Amino acid sequence: MPMSWSRIAAPGIAPRSATPTPLVAGPEDRPSVVRPYRIAHVSDPHLSRQYYREHLKSLKILLRTVLEEGADHVVISGDMVSTADPDDLYLAREVFAKAGVLDASRLTVVPGNHDVFGGPHRAVDVLSFPSHIRSIDYHSHHAMFRDAFAETFEGAIRSASGAPYPFVKRVGPFALIGLNSIPPWSMRQNILGTNGIVDDAQIAGLLDLAASGAWEDRLPVVVVHHHFNDLTDDAPSNGLWRKIEARTMRLRKRRKLLRILKEIGVRAVLHGHIHRNEVYDRSGLAFLNGAGSICDDPVRRLKYNVVDCKEGSLVAKVRTLDIPYQESTVNRVLRGRRVFASSASLEPQPQS
Ligand SMILES: [Fe+2]
Repeated sequence: MPMSWSRIAAPGIAPRSATPTPLVAGPEDRPSVVRPYRIAHVSDPHLSRQYYREHLKSLKILLRTVLEEGADHVVISGDMVSTADPDDLYLAREVFAKAGVLDASRLTVVPGNHDVFGGPHRAVDVLSFPSHIRSIDYHSHHAMFRDAFAETFEGAIRSASGAPYPFVKRVGPFALIGLNSIPPWSMRQNILGTNGIVDDAQIAGLLDLAASGAWEDRLPVVVVHHHFNDLTDDAPSNGLWRKIEARTMRLRKRRKLLRILKEIGVRAVLHGHIHRNEVYDRSGLAFLNGAGSICDDPVRRLKYNVVDCKEGSLVAKVRTLDIPYQESTVNRVLRGRRVFASSASLEPQPQS
């Protein structure tokens, strides 16, 4: 069932509203007359043969589902793997190759912090990771990620600098703009590798691409790993937690980036990083987080976002599905709860 929707006007077809993008309810069924162009958005699969073998099953299920439902293009917004292990990157590559979508026209990927730095996965790793991360060759790990998915970058439009990011891919009615939000390690600003920033060179590249008309006849949608909202948005005020978040889980200079994205006409942002799926609004721009697709905590359902473009409108929603291989655990418990909750025995019983 859809959790939320957003409807955004496409450029040149309907005027852009100056007011914040409304999140409105809409019909569930896909229209049968004019088929929309569909992007399926999944994020943070965190593949790892060593630690999370079940994530591979989940990704295959999600991929099969979205393709059976007619997705024209698949977006993975980072953390494809969990340990930055090249074997896991190529495992991921094989999943998409076997599904027939390891192709620029069918798949778009951007790196997440785990693709570059990995992360602690056992209690003991928490102690060793801060020193381990300093030894990582940042540039070669980025290159490894791009090599693993080289086919998906073929034909991408680059700025005059020729840098890998930003890139623009014109797919269907969309112009997908890929950004790298993973900066190098820094003791002061990125001690765990989890903070993000889109640096000034990429900002200059974005402005260059905008000036060159890279997406003038398409719907520009940004793909980036980091989030634009706060973990503490919905939580009771907690100064310590806010300080931890600001130091380790923050997209730095995001207000500036948001302003630039609006100036260059971006209509939506697909991202990951915070492990939950949601659609939200920031200053009139629609954001879709897909990071709870596989790694939501606790994992009760697989999730994916779909973005349909039909007749000039962009409609987004979050979909969920059961996890078949968890039948003996989570799903059985949940199913029992559903039956219990809907049981007539919970209703007031007529007096005989
Ligand atoms: Fe992640």
